[in-house]
Amino acid sequence: MTPSSTDAAQPRVCRRIGLIAAALAALVGCGGIQSALDPAADQAEHLAELFWWMTGGVLIIWFAVLGLALYAVRAPERQDLTGPHRLIVWGGVIVPTLLLSLLLVYGLALVPEFLAPARPGSLRVRVTGEQYWWRVRYQPDGRAPVDLANEIRLPVGEEVEFLLDSKDVIHSFWIPALGGKVDMIPGRQTRLRLLPTRTGTFRGTCAEYCGASHALMSFAVVVQEKAEFERWLEAQAAPARPPSDALAHTGRDVLFANGCGACHALRGTAADGVVGPDLTHVGGRASLAAGILPNHAAGFSRWIAATDVLKPGVHMPAFGMLAAAESSALAAYLESLE
Ligand code: CUA
Repeated sequence: MTPSSTDAAQPRVCRRIGLIAAALAALVGCGGIQSALDPAADQAEHLAELFWWMTGGVLIIWFAVLGLALYAVRAPERQDLTGPHRLIVWGGVIVPTLLLSLLLVYGLALVPEFLAPARPGSLRVRVTGEQYWWRVRYQPDGRAPVDLANEIRLPVGEEVEFLLDSKDVIHSFWIPALGGKVDMIPGRQTRLRLLPTRTGTFRGTCAEYCGASHALMSFAVVVQEKAEFERWLEAQAAPARPPSDALAHTGRDVLFANGCGACHALRGTAADGVVGPDLTHVGGRASLAAGILPNHAAGFSRWIAATDVLKPGVHMPAFGMLAAAESSALAAYLESLE
């Protein structure tokens, strides 16, 4: 092998490695907590099937066109590519019309099932889009509603109906692994019905540009066994637990002294604000500030001091004026609210 042929081979090897890396990256994207191609509910399963059928149809058309193009380039003397009408009629009209019509019929056939209401007695969860977080209200039959934020839990194998709306602008409710996306429109209620088929923790997100922090509003969806779910819902319905130590006591005083209760509710206390997220069990959630911070005391301190920096456009003002001792006491109290 001459030195020049080795030099020429190197870019080819690099290209191959690049292609393999890109293919692996694409495959990795098929799994995980926020993948529509790794479905965990009936609706997402149907959508994933539709996706694979459409990908198959597109590949058939792509290979057919590519094959004809290569054939034309390699055999320019063959006149039958431009001469007879047969190729144009079949390749340009009949095959695309048939394939696209089949895909259209298949896609449309799924719509009635997606739009069908949930069976009477099914779990109902109302979710309201806010700038930039999710207000969640469970409406269990015969019991008082339970309010929380940025976290949804569902029992596996049971139908659920989400009742969706928005306070301010259009958001879009999307849990890729379970189903959606469905627009949340101010002044009207939309619905999403689905049936989770396996347990796990998934990530939901906003799929409609809704302002500066559109990319900073996600939520956790935990699908669990029915008994576990019932225990969780019962715990969520309970009032906020009283402070367990001196630091948490001080933190609660800081909360009331700074007027936090005008915007946030802590059930069982004088704080009954409805502007911001319900904080009754905020310490038990998967994350803080709609999925952007870890849920521990340091996360609370960071959030309270710099809401405007961490989430531009959010309605909550920053409380950077709190002394360090006040801030850490408040954070400790919030963290204890499990
Ligand atoms: Cu809410 Cu984008």
